[in-house]
Amino acid sequence: MIIGLTYDLRDEYLSMGFSEDETAEFDREDTISSIEATLAELGYQTDRIGHIKNLVSRLNRGDRWDLVFNIAEGLYGEGREAQVPALLDAYRIPYVFSGPLVLALTLNKALTKIIVKDSGIATPEHAVIYDRSDIRKVKLPYPLFVKPLAEGTGKGIDPESVVDGPKQLEKKCTELLNRYHQPVLVETYLSGREFTAGIVGTGQEAKCIGVIEIILKDNAEKGVYSYVNKEECEERIIYSLTDQDAVDACSELALQAWKCLRAEDGGRIDIRFDHQGTPHFLEINPLAGMHPEHSDLPILAGLNGIHYRELMKMIMASAVRKIKIVHHA
Ligand SMILES: Nc1ncnc2c1ncn2[C@@H]1O[C@H](COP(=O)(O)OP(=O)(O)OP(=O)(O)O)[C@@H](O)[C@H]1O
Ligand SMILES: [Mg+2]
Repeated sequence: MIIGLTYDLRDEYLSMGFSEDETAEFDREDTISSIEATLAELGYQTDRIGHIKNLVSRLNRGDRWDLVFNIAEGLYGEGREAQVPALLDAYRIPYVFSGPLVLALTLNKALTKIIVKDSGIATPEHAVIYDRSDIRKVKLPYPLFVKPLAEGTGKGIDPESVVDGPKQLEKKCTELLNRYHQPVLVETYLSGREFTAGIVGTGQEAKCIGVIEIILKDNAEKGVYSYVNKEECEERIIYSLTDQDAVDACSELALQAWKCLRAEDGGRIDIRFDHQGTPHFLEINPLAGMHPEHSDLPILAGLNGIHYRELMKMIMASAVRKIKIVHHA
């Protein structure tokens, strides 16, 4: 079986002149080579495709694959993560991970929260700032948390994301509007413990493979799993197995969110407790990082006794089912 690999390689974009920040969500060469080597160990033949423009030229040349392992995040537009799967759908080529509907929706954290909330899952109250005039309309009680509406990898998130009053809110929202040229999400600040849950599978087959607690070391930026804390996670973060009550509460919430959003094959849900210890949905990562040592999903799988190859095997087992579905539709 030939598996195409679509991804955005960080070094390639850096050498094209894009900045560190613009490419922060993109993948390192060792992530791609780990995926490639593991797929080979699992008996698959692999073919590197790369970013969407390479995919377009390869499709034009007539190249086809049995399945595409897609981790391309995309660069432009609010559907940037949805572009590769949408293109593959047009050619009836099945792919690993979620489709365009889920990837476009979940890049927008506010719209995702509305759907999650509608299915009865707790998530912090929120407001969306489209331009500066929206800032003074925010009526939520402080402290609040401020972050870009559609980014990942902790981009734009630092200790100043926690704001205690209208002046700080104005400052942080204005900075993010100017820096990211996209709306800003303002949420009630959750001060409790933080977790991330790993899910593998689709629909009724989905299961939670583990929950870990994100514990900030003394040398970490305070109160948030920020960009800097993520980049330097080896020195600043403890990824820890945790008590059974927290695991049960988080896996239940994560599975419910995964199923209600119709996400596929594998990913992560980020959860934080409020001051009373009630778990809340923060966000879903349907294209979770897949670096074997540096990314949260492989880290949490490993801590739960699931090695990288086993994780990849489970994800592929879920995805391979789609080959039959696409070809018999
Ligand atoms: N409402 C909130 N209350 C408290 N902390 C929050 C809140 N929202 C986000 N955070 C903190 O900021 C971190 C990053 O937020 P979030 O997960 O939404 O961003 P991200 O950049 O998409 O993350 P990822 O790297 O998982 O893609 C969280 O892990 C958490 O520490
Ligand atoms: Mg997150």
